Amino acid sequence: MKTRAPTPPQRQRGRSIASALRPASVLVLLAFSVGAVAAAEANAGHNTGARATIEQRVAPCIACHGRQGSSSNAAYYPRLSGKPEGYLFDQLQSFRDGRRFHRDMVYLVRHMSDENLRDMARYFARLDLPYPAVGTTTDADANVLARGQQLVREGDAARGIPACASCHGDALMGVEPGIPPLLGLPRLYIASQLGAWLTGDRSAPEPDCMSQVGRKLDTADINAVAAWLAIQPVPQESRAAARSAPLPTPCHAMRAQPLATAR
Ligand code: HEC
Ligand code: HEC
Repeated sequence: MKTRAPTPPQRQRGRSIASALRPASVLVLLAFSVGAVAAAEANAGHNTGARATIEQRVAPCIACHGRQGSSSNAAYYPRLSGKPEGYLFDQLQSFRDGRRFHRDMVYLVRHMSDENLRDMARYFARLDLPYPAVGTTTDADANVLARGQQLVREGDAARGIPACASCHGDALMGVEPGIPPLLGLPRLYIASQLGAWLTGDRSAPEPDCMSQVGRKLDTADINAVAAWLAIQPVPQESRAAARSAPLPTPCHAMRAQPLATAR
């Protein structure tokens, strides 16, 4: 049974759920945010000498993403705080360099230097804040949730889908330096990102392991994993795990060198 992949909100390329749903207040906020980022970037220019502080530079980011992330399942903005620095840096580069296509994000970072992106990635990676409580009500039925859990924990060997946990960690909170957590994310966001791999709208430099996995998921798989992941509580120890077991396939995100020495 083939249904349409979930439409990722506000991609540059097409119509979107979120632009239709987006309240006017977010547009006002965005206008403010973009102005503030532009000003911060101008201050960061080489000739002015007066560089904006990191707090000034990340203020607009916090306006959308929050410091702790969102506790509402209806929300879309992904949390940034406490995610692996390498992961955050890769994603900022991807918005800037054409591997991810969210309009607001692309607009914000399109002229930013690697150094600036790295500073912001480091700032958010080091923020150690509790996650808001995760809502546990869902309209997904028990079969769908069981299928989601099975894909996450065991994968689907017959279709060549590895267990999500084999890369994202047993606790599903990511693995240093480059694999992100799967818990504490809005359901719509998870489904949208998985839809983007299915349609080829999100990628990473080779070896692009997540694209290989994402392309194998159909829309029923996507609905199932997104429904299950979105109602799992975030563990007390919410930081990403240290790199340990080898991955099922190589990933660019798990660069051989730690970020600090790879500059
Ligand atoms: C207008 C709201 C808005 C602002 C302002 C904003 N973001 Fe975002 N950001 C988003 C949305 C929406 C997404 C999800 C994009 C998608 O669908 O791919 C996102 C995604 C991200 C991601 C990827 C997260 C992940 O888990 O993959 C990072 C990193 C990020 N933003 C960093 C920043 C930084 C740093 C700033 C400040 C310079 C910023 N954002 C400002 C809305 C915003
Ligand atoms: C071979 C390793 C690997 C496996 C297996 C894997 N992932 Fe990933 N995943 C990654 C990497 C690496 C990233 C970081 C993004 C990138 O490199 O494109 C990622 C990113 C993600 C993201 C984006 C999170 C965000 O904040 O935007 C989601 C959602 C995701 N994976 C879901 C899954 C699901 C669901 C499965 C199981 C069906 C899975 N992954 C299996 C390696 C893997």
